[in-house]
Amino acid sequence: MINQIKEHISEVEKFTSSDKDAIESFRIKYLGKKGLFNHFFSDFKNVPNDQKKEFGQIVNQLKAVVTEKVTTLKQALEDEKLAHGVYGDLTRPGEPLNLGSRHPISIVKNQIIDIFSRIGFNVSEGPEIEDDWHNFTALNLPEYHPARDMQDTFFIQTAPDILLRTHTSSVQVRYMENNKPPIRTISPGRVYRNEAISARSHCFFHQIEGLYIDKDVSFADLKQTLQFFTTELFGKSEIRLRPSYFPFTEPSAEVDVYWGLETEADYRMTKGTGWLEIMGCGMVDPNVLTNCGIDANEFSGFAFGMGIDRIALLLHQISDIRLLSENDLRFLEQFKSAL
Ligand code: PHE
Repeated sequence: MINQIKEHISEVEKFTSSDKDAIESFRIKYLGKKGLFNHFFSDFKNVPNDQKKEFGQIVNQLKAVVTEKVTTLKQALEDEKLAHGVYGDLTRPGEPLNLGSRHPISIVKNQIIDIFSRIGFNVSEGPEIEDDWHNFTALNLPEYHPARDMQDTFFIQTAPDILLRTHTSSVQVRYMENNKPPIRTISPGRVYRNEAISARSHCFFHQIEGLYIDKDVSFADLKQTLQFFTTELFGKSEIRLRPSYFPFTEPSAEVDVYWGLETEADYRMTKGTGWLEIMGCGMVDPNVLTNCGIDANEFSGFAFGMGIDRIALLLHQISDIRLLSENDLRFLEQFKSAL
């Protein structure tokens, strides 16, 4: 019997494998419940007394060599896995890195933020689900004011005071309520209007609105700021302000930029006039300042607001606004930007 065990020991010493299952069955063969170790050990009582010592030693040796063998083989397996897992084959050529692309709305939004941040504007944000006060009443649009119809609003049925904001002017109200002048902030964000979806309009889109409040702010400051903006964003410095109406600004204006009539696309985009309407603006109505806790005798200011989607369409010659929310990869992959 002792010789038999010795044979097993030399077999164990010779054994090698790099297969996880084979190593496991090897372990079970010797050390499992019905394995050889237990088999020999249960024979211990039949061994003559004078051989018990040698027998015990040899059986224990068997257990020790098997344990050591299994540990070494498993360790080798782990090491190999680690080497491959972390570094793989070091001679292989690198994997191609696919650069992601930003959504055109984000690209244009970031460009606009970048331009205004250079003249001291910070960025403010607010909730998309708004209350009546911040979206309408504080902005000089009390209940039953006819101008509320200018913005087809989604109301929350169970809470008539709560709505999806129709413009980011609501963020400006929040900002004025919480900050003292001088104020220079732009508020980008998504807005919602109950409009039919077509190539030119959508029931949600994005705006960026600006607010400047300080002592002695004039209409000339507004025009200068907008001219700086159009020059930076479009490379076009000729703008015109057409009188318009917004309940929260007085006087109010629409801003057109002279796009030019050099190409056929220019003709198409500007309907042959060379001018493109890009935003609304005006001097903040003193009522709005008062509503937001700012002394209208001491401070004045201007505000402006534009649709990011519309500007993205212009800048990237996109013909259908719906493309911006369809998440078609073939479309999105065309936009690469560091911004
Ligand atoms: N809030 C206006 C809109 O959504 C835009 C605007 C902002 C006009 C600020 C004037 C001043 O149409």
